[in-house]
Amino acid sequence: MAAGLVRMVCGSFGPGPGPRGVALSSSTAAVAKAVSLSGLKPLPEKVKIVEVGPRDGLQNEKTIVPADVKIRLIDMLSEAGLPVIEATSFVSPKWVPQMADQEEVMRGIHRKPGVSYPVLTPNLKGYRAAVKAGAMEVAIFGAASELFSKRNINCSVEESLQRFEEVMSAAREEKVPVRGYVSCVLGCPYEGSVSPSRVAEVAQRLYSMGCYEVSLGDTVGMGTPGGMAAMLEAVMREVPVHALAVHCHDTYGQALANILVALQNGVSVVDASVAGLGGCPYAQGASGNVATEDVVYMLHGLSIHTGVDLPKLMDAGSYICRSLNRRTSSKVAQASCKL
Ligand code: HMG
Ligand code: MG
Repeated sequence: MAAGLVRMVCGSFGPGPGPRGVALSSSTAAVAKAVSLSGLKPLPEKVKIVEVGPRDGLQNEKTIVPADVKIRLIDMLSEAGLPVIEATSFVSPKWVPQMADQEEVMRGIHRKPGVSYPVLTPNLKGYRAAVKAGAMEVAIFGAASELFSKRNINCSVEESLQRFEEVMSAAREEKVPVRGYVSCVLGCPYEGSVSPSRVAEVAQRLYSMGCYEVSLGDTVGMGTPGGMAAMLEAVMREVPVHALAVHCHDTYGQALANILVALQNGVSVVDASVAGLGGCPYAQGASGNVATEDVVYMLHGLSIHTGVDLPKLMDAGSYICRSLNRRTSSKVAQASCKL
């Protein structure tokens, strides 16, 4: 019976909105209808997916991934229709050796028109190096937890916000868009619970200093849907929902449920990592971000437009898993017989 089901799913590759037609055409409509009839809050019609695998995913790999593999991955992701691909980070190579090839990566990628390739910059030094290497968008990354901030970027939350002001004022002058992150929004690996009001405060600071979007990171994936709803309620009092994104790691298997709650609250930007790659080097126990394939599958199942071609995305996932000699963490890829 199980073998038959696997054969049926694997054998159904073909054109269509799903992963090579994987049981989507008929069930999708049914699911979307069920959702619209269920009395749930309305969902967005479109979602922008921010692909963070090449940065958040690969930063945590133990063996150094060659730059040409990173470049090929990024190019496959842009071919798959991802509108934003976080390419690398301009952080200290002593802290994160995996990202030491950032200039080579920025030089090597084939920039597809209409696609953004933001990079992480923790301070002015990183910002200057990023712009010199051709970055046209950057991201600053703060936290709602003091201990996490200290371990991740070696300063207090307040000090980090002062550093970000410096980045922001240079970026403003050069008209470089800046995205902001708040880590530990649903809990901290060192401090435990984090109050929604603290998250709201840090998100508000980033937004008011000029971040066009603030991504709310469940860094170790501890959050559950109730916590997501409460945190968003607090943050949305300070930052308009159109400027919010969610960034869910899937350590406890809660990411898709948390994302659905965010969508129901009007969030329409979702970060994800191809093949579920990653973790955070300064958040012990954090597994990868939610797999992009799984997010796209869920969104398309809800009739939400993403512009992403799922079969091509799955090819990118297979490519990076083969290169890393690891198994994909995407359930959709597993179900569809990809690596
Ligand atoms: P520090 O040691 O306090 O920095 O590190 P410093 O200013 O004292 O400088 C020490 C050395 O680092 C000096 O070099 C600087 O030049 C150099 P030395 O004189 O010793 O040769 N340095 C730099 N080198 C390259 N690029 C730079 C840079 N800045 C200073 N930008 C620092 C502070 C922020 C640099 C360090 O802590 C660091 O690089 N941290 C990065 C940590 C990181 O990348 N973490 C992962 C990303 S965050 C994440 O994954 C969470 C997220 O996904 C959201 C979520 O899931 O919640 C975004
Ligand atoms: Mg992350």
